[in-house]
Amino acid sequence: MIFKRRRQIYNNNYNISSLKKEIRTFAPQFLIMKKLFIETYGCQMNVADSEVVASILSPEYEITDDEQSADLILINTCSVRDNAEQRIRHRLQELAAIKKRRPGMMVGLLGCMAERLKQQILEEEPTLDLVAGPDAYRSLPRLIEEVAAGEKAYDVILSRTETYDDIMPVRYAANGVSGFISIMRGCDNFCSYCVVPFTRGRERSRSPHTILTEAQQLLADGYKEVTLLGQNVNSYRYEEEDGTVTTFAQLMERVAQLSPQLRVRFATSHPKDISDELIHTIAKYPNICKYIHLPVQAGSTSILQRMNRVYTREQYLERIATIKRVIPDCAIATDIIAGFCGETEEEHQATLSLMREVGYAYAYMFRYSVRDNTYAATHFADDVPDELKTKRLEEIIALQQQLSLEHNQRDVGKTFKVLVEGASKRSEEQLFGRNSQNKVVVFPKGNHKKGDYVNVRITSCTAATLIGTLS
Ligand code: SAH
Ligand code: SF4
Ligand code: F3S
Repeated sequence: MIFKRRRQIYNNNYNISSLKKEIRTFAPQFLIMKKLFIETYGCQMNVADSEVVASILSPEYEITDDEQSADLILINTCSVRDNAEQRIRHRLQELAAIKKRRPGMMVGLLGCMAERLKQQILEEEPTLDLVAGPDAYRSLPRLIEEVAAGEKAYDVILSRTETYDDIMPVRYAANGVSGFISIMRGCDNFCSYCVVPFTRGRERSRSPHTILTEAQQLLADGYKEVTLLGQNVNSYRYEEEDGTVTTFAQLMERVAQLSPQLRVRFATSHPKDISDELIHTIAKYPNICKYIHLPVQAGSTSILQRMNRVYTREQYLERIATIKRVIPDCAIATDIIAGFCGETEEEHQATLSLMREVGYAYAYMFRYSVRDNTYAATHFADDVPDELKTKRLEEIIALQQQLSLEHNQRDVGKTFKVLVEGASKRSEEQLFGRNSQNKVVVFPKGNHKKGDYVNVRITSCTAATLIGTLS
């Protein structure tokens, strides 16, 4: 068998990496793998990217969860707010201590902070050996060779076409139930506060064919849920060579049709282009989850304008009304930024009133953080004092706490189909999972296990969790 494979290898002119991959598949006992530890910060796109990185390095490296014994440590970073970057700087100090004990170990910086700070960070953080931006992960084997030869190495070139669409991710961190698929990269929206268009480059969509293949693979591996990822999935658009176009709604439909047993989620939508077509597609398929994350950022048209969000308060509320009409059981979540440039008390109150009007099930809430070179940083003053930003954020969080509780209280007495993700944190006798609305549900174990769909009747709740019994 090995002999036959080897002839194929020669005939195909394989390189060393492919050869090692073959050996790993057919005779793993002959290969000593190096150990790779990856730590991921930021959004789900970064989680998905780390799985791509693990795949690119898989001919040489196997994943370890022990940083102390790793040959290579990669930190996949986020730049979205200053505190995200500070956390990573702090972490690099800790890694410096490990590296002192193990001088042969390499440390690399990936992701958005790598892209934002480029090679300059190699000087600022001497612990680092290599830096690779989000579109440069195919260069990692070369960068690692350069480091092994005694150099510091970097590649931070952004691409207009890279989607890693031929790479089957190594899902080392997944729970075996729910997996991510990146369907597009980059962002062209240039919201005035946001660093992402600078760190991730131009928007590009991946071919539907490879997305479906990856979803099918997840299904074959026993996964029950897939989340399609992009910074703005509604603008997904793929044109084949013959001119056929696939929209996001059509892509969702094709993924949903793979199996009624496979739940489909997506993140994130931009309110400016969440189409009626998509809303109707979500309503049509029971396995497309009834949960939409529709970041509003602020409740007043004046702030939205300064943020370059290109919708008004009224237009946003119209989209919400359509969602509620077409999908009455849909849970809606959002992102909110407190204390953006020039925010008045009245504008802050408009955010609170919008939150009440929508009745969000969940929200991610942040203090505005200036990011260098963004439009807001260069054109507006960051003039809301720190204490006031904090006070407004606290008011937003307190209101959301109340809205989440009310939302959950309306679910008491209802029965939901829950996809089990594992044992509850508090007790081995309890399982937890999510319903279609993305709410965490805790219930007695019975005979059920991870990956099962279970009907649960809700008997009580907190603001964060639904608690139920098997029904
Ligand atoms: N593409 C997604 C969000 C990506 S960033 C979207 O447009 O919805 C995730 C969230 O971080 C944003 O929705 C926003 O609420 C927040 N965020 C982005 N830049 C920020 C900044 N400079 N300060 C504070 N929060 C920010
Ligand atoms: Fe940032 Fe706006 Fe793009 Fe989201 S849509 S990633 S907030 S620029
Ligand atoms: Fe952060 Fe980059 Fe995601 S800045 S939020 S990791 S796209």
